[in-house]
Amino acid sequence: MTMLALRQHADTLPLQPARDFATDVHEGLRGWPKAIPSKYFYDDEGSRLFEKICELPEYYPTRTELKLLQDNAPAIAEIIGPDVELIEFGAGAARKVRLLLDALIRPRAYLPIDISGPHLTAAVKALAADYPHIAVKPVPGDYTAPLRLPQPQKGAARRVCFFPGSTIGNFTPEEAHSFLRHAARMLSNDAKQGGLTSPGGLLIGVDLVKSPDILHAAYNDSAGVTAAFNLNLLHRINRELGGDFKVDRFAHYAFYQPHLRRVEMHLVSLAAQTVRIGEASYEFSEGESIHTENSYKYTLAGFRYMAEQAGFRPSAVWCDPDRLFSLHWLTLA
Ligand code: AVJ
Repeated sequence: MTMLALRQHADTLPLQPARDFATDVHEGLRGWPKAIPSKYFYDDEGSRLFEKICELPEYYPTRTELKLLQDNAPAIAEIIGPDVELIEFGAGAARKVRLLLDALIRPRAYLPIDISGPHLTAAVKALAADYPHIAVKPVPGDYTAPLRLPQPQKGAARRVCFFPGSTIGNFTPEEAHSFLRHAARMLSNDAKQGGLTSPGGLLIGVDLVKSPDILHAAYNDSAGVTAAFNLNLLHRINRELGGDFKVDRFAHYAFYQPHLRRVEMHLVSLAAQTVRIGEASYEFSEGESIHTENSYKYTLAGFRYMAEQAGFRPSAVWCDPDRLFSLHWLTLA
């Protein structure tokens, strides 16, 4: 799974031009507290580890969202309506997209927006082969930045964005709000210019506030896969940027902060140490951390309120009986 273009730094709002791994790592380690954006987890090894996370007994989001899509596919297809062009933000969730395409009535096109790479190409090829009646048009780029989509096709009724996986949880609430505003603006411009008959919509997966015990287990799995996923960031710096991190001198640390409604992941230095990356060197005191991820959780009402503030009309919402995860259908007025 390639999960791309996520930003988590409070000072890096979406809609800014993309920067590269080296720049963000050096800047993030010079700052205080030290932090590296979570989008950099997903190199090949990180993507492989993330797929393993999705299979873990403790990690409920993937499984719960898939079941929500499966169980509610007819209702979702009905509310979305026929002849849509489906736009996916990030193109990694092949199983989820297929569930949706299978349920929709005469879907016209599938446009995954993602940073192009071998994963995207392969996923898009396989999908195009299995859905010969759907125009598959990958849009290379960063979906948190403004970008132009191809014109809607003749006969298409509406454009619908799909953003599964609670990836929006990696944004701060301010970033999430501006991301939603940007999506709303993009959808309404398309509708005006493209001769579509129905206003656009957004189907988005959002992880919910719940018992801290459940959240804690989900980010501290007993098999240690989440720890490996987090620590892989240091291996990646060593591999790609010429770092000399001694990875066993750092520990995975993840905890839920109820007052901020977010799980934070950190890499904690187990000793005072100096790490070199290329020409630069960074001092760590014992116990100092690198903040590597925020994963925000929402209440149903809280998310609907934010969507409304960003210009959407919150419509249907689907959620499992245990209220672990939610799928929101947001439309434009
Ligand atoms: C893909 C961002 C939704 O925040 O739960 C999984 C990433 N981090 N385990 C999440 C993740 C640690 C995941 N998202």
